[in-house]
Amino acid sequence: MLILYYSGTGNTKFGCDVARLVMEKAGHEVTMKTYAKAGKESLDGFDLYCFAAPVYEWAPAVNVERFVTSMARLPGKRAFIITSSAGATGQAIPLFARMLEGKGLTLLGNYNLICADTWGGTRRWSYNQDAETPTVESVCELAAFTEKMLEVAEALEQGGDVELPEYRVKPTGLFWASRFSRLAPSARMKMGKKKVDEKECAECGVCAKNCPSGAIKLDPYPRFGNECIACWRCINTCPADCITTLLDGGHHYKGIVDKDGLLKNAGLK
Ligand SMILES: Cc1cc2nc3c(=O)[nH]c(=O)nc-3n(C[C@H](O)[C@H](O)[C@H](O)COP(=O)(O)O)c2cc1C
Ligand code: SF4
Ligand code: SF4
Repeated sequence: MLILYYSGTGNTKFGCDVARLVMEKAGHEVTMKTYAKAGKESLDGFDLYCFAAPVYEWAPAVNVERFVTSMARLPGKRAFIITSSAGATGQAIPLFARMLEGKGLTLLGNYNLICADTWGGTRRWSYNQDAETPTVESVCELAAFTEKMLEVAEALEQGGDVELPEYRVKPTGLFWASRFSRLAPSARMKMGKKKVDEKECAECGVCAKNCPSGAIKLDPYPRFGNECIACWRCINTCPADCITTLLDGGHHYKGIVDKDGLLKNAGLK
């Protein structure tokens, strides 16, 4: 089994860890890696795939969309989707599914793990920003979903008659908003101009290392290039909280508070 993921602040990765633990408990060997690590290497050779992404502006994160668009086809292979969002997925899931189907994959299902919002601009209105998300219930649901995916894959393997989901993208306002937001300059405008408090910056390079589009150069403080896809990751993950925009209101997301507790309470550890 291969789990491919991107995670700006760890929420999607947590969802993938849940799926990995369930699969390993069921005796399967699981390889889990980021899209960036997978790079251009062949993805062939696995019997089941999980593609995971956070929902950014009602679509799979920009860098995940780019990866899937340019990846080699995987005809006849089976896959399922894990997304993580703050609650408004728009057309993200059918869009992601159709992209994967376009690569020859058969989609078995999807699960969206509701988590705290990592979009700096909305965190100030406490939109799902408490430390209670994801809940133990949702972790249990994701675990049960993963078990179901294993059963469906097994049934298909044995030639069983299984009803699979159909994904259709509806051309709603949010769909078009998601397409418009992929134009990098408009995305950056929505984020506001990033500023660095140079007195607080430790020149540690975490922001440059974490940036999914290679938009940050240290000189010796961060400088932001036009490759920025406005994902807020540098702002959220700077250990000194010294990157800000006018929009963020000082609300930086520092990740799920008690991952181990959630896994234990869900019976996964
Ligand atoms: C740039 C950006 C855009 C976002 N857009 C949405 C959205 O359209 N709908 C939603 O429900 N959550 C949205 N979110 C919230 C994230 O999907 C959510 O917090 C997710 O759990 C983040 O996962 P990660 O930690 O793996 O990146 C957005 C977050 C960011 C940073
Ligand atoms: S992560 Fe923060 S402290 Fe580290 S170099 Fe970037 S801005 Fe400076
Ligand atoms: S500069 Fe910051 S907001 Fe822009 S893509 Fe890089 S990490 Fe994301």
